Amino acid sequence: MERGNFGSKIGAVLASAGSAVGLGNIWRFPTECGSNGGAAFILIYLLCVFLLAMPVMIAEFVIGRASRSNTVGSYRVLAPGKPWVVSGFMGVAAGFLVLSFYSVVAGWTLDYTFESLTGGLMSETDFGAFFNDFVADPWHPAIFLLLFLLLTHCVVATGVEKGIERYSKIMMPMLLAIVLVLIGFSLTMPNAGIGIEFMLRPDFSKVTKDVILSAMGQAFFTLSVGIGTLATYASYFSKETRLVPSALSVCAIDTLVAVAAGFIIFPAVFSVGVDADSGPGLVFITLPYVFQEAFGSVPVLKYVFSGLFYLLLLLAALTSSISMHEICTAYIHETFRLSRRLSAAIVTCICFVMGVACSLSFGIWKDVTVMGMGFFDLFDFVTAKFLMPLGGLLICTFVGWDMNKKLVAGELDSTFTPLLMVLFSWVAPIGIGIIFIYGLMSN
Ligand code: TRP
Repeated sequence: MERGNFGSKIGAVLASAGSAVGLGNIWRFPTECGSNGGAAFILIYLLCVFLLAMPVMIAEFVIGRASRSNTVGSYRVLAPGKPWVVSGFMGVAAGFLVLSFYSVVAGWTLDYTFESLTGGLMSETDFGAFFNDFVADPWHPAIFLLLFLLLTHCVVATGVEKGIERYSKIMMPMLLAIVLVLIGFSLTMPNAGIGIEFMLRPDFSKVTKDVILSAMGQAFFTLSVGIGTLATYASYFSKETRLVPSALSVCAIDTLVAVAAGFIIFPAVFSVGVDADSGPGLVFITLPYVFQEAFGSVPVLKYVFSGLFYLLLLLAALTSSISMHEICTAYIHETFRLSRRLSAAIVTCICFVMGVACSLSFGIWKDVTVMGMGFFDLFDFVTAKFLMPLGGLLICTFVGWDMNKKLVAGELDSTFTPLLMVLFSWVAPIGIGIIFIYGLMSN
């Protein structure tokens, strides 16, 4: 079967960075940072990124490009008859689960983008009630979930070069431009310095075992590693794409956007004087207050700031959801030999049904629980605490111990190969293993 390919190196990096930069950076990172000790959290998070998550990213790149196959197929090519293929199946299962609950939040973002661009959001007075009523409604969020999934679907169904690469090349520069504009706005607000200090002052008294766990979870989630997303993307990389520098660029872009999101959110939040440690409601409840308060005197600015902010969130979510969709679509397309369009349609339908279940768990299905959790929390728990770390562990171990050494060295083609081999074989598996076991025990 003819396989798609990324047409350019920059396209390959932008698509991978698009996968990495997502709600994890703009919604999850500032929240985690705010409640886990500011710069102390950032330091531990950076260690997790460079020692644990980046090795998994590079290992995924190696597996993908060496096999030129989807995440299940890659193990069939590289290790036929061996049980590693289980890791591929876990990846596809995780792809479906993550895409389902991620699209629910992305659907809220789509609604907020509409509402802010049309002026509806800024005419509200009680944003807490607005948000809670919205997510508990059975229909409204489901419609936006569907719209968001259809956007994702259209890009994936169009193909690797004409769809994923082309739209990443348009959306990523837009996203970076919006980040710059918003930082400019935020830093010029009165008392912005307090917010920056909040983010940059390390509070080591908050660093506990749980903070380390959260930092690793955040590092894996934000870099999209552990479930074969980047292996699938790397299977479309050309031979000329250098894996190690590409991984470094993706990690750098991802970290910069996360820190930038903090620089946008915290100065604004402190300037207005609301509580920065307000958890997941930060972006959907606290920030609308901030927009309203901050620009009360020049109303047009509040529409511009809020509209651009939710558009930023939407673009980030879309380039990530495309990559999760692609793991599943590539698997179905190549395994069952169905057309790309039909494979993508199957994925979209399944994720819509699972997404509706997640969405309803905020409203009429609040009491439908499995292991004490609603569907949204359950999918999040199973992927973040279980499938991603376990997947990451298996991916590194496979490349470090089982894969042909010459093939790995050829793919890496780097002066850092010996160091990377130590990271793949020892540092990452042991580090991830310890944190994984702690994570399971603390639940
Ligand atoms: N990295 C994305 C974010 O930060 C989310 C994401 C995309 C993801 N693909 C993934 C997370 C695969 C885990 C696995 O929002």
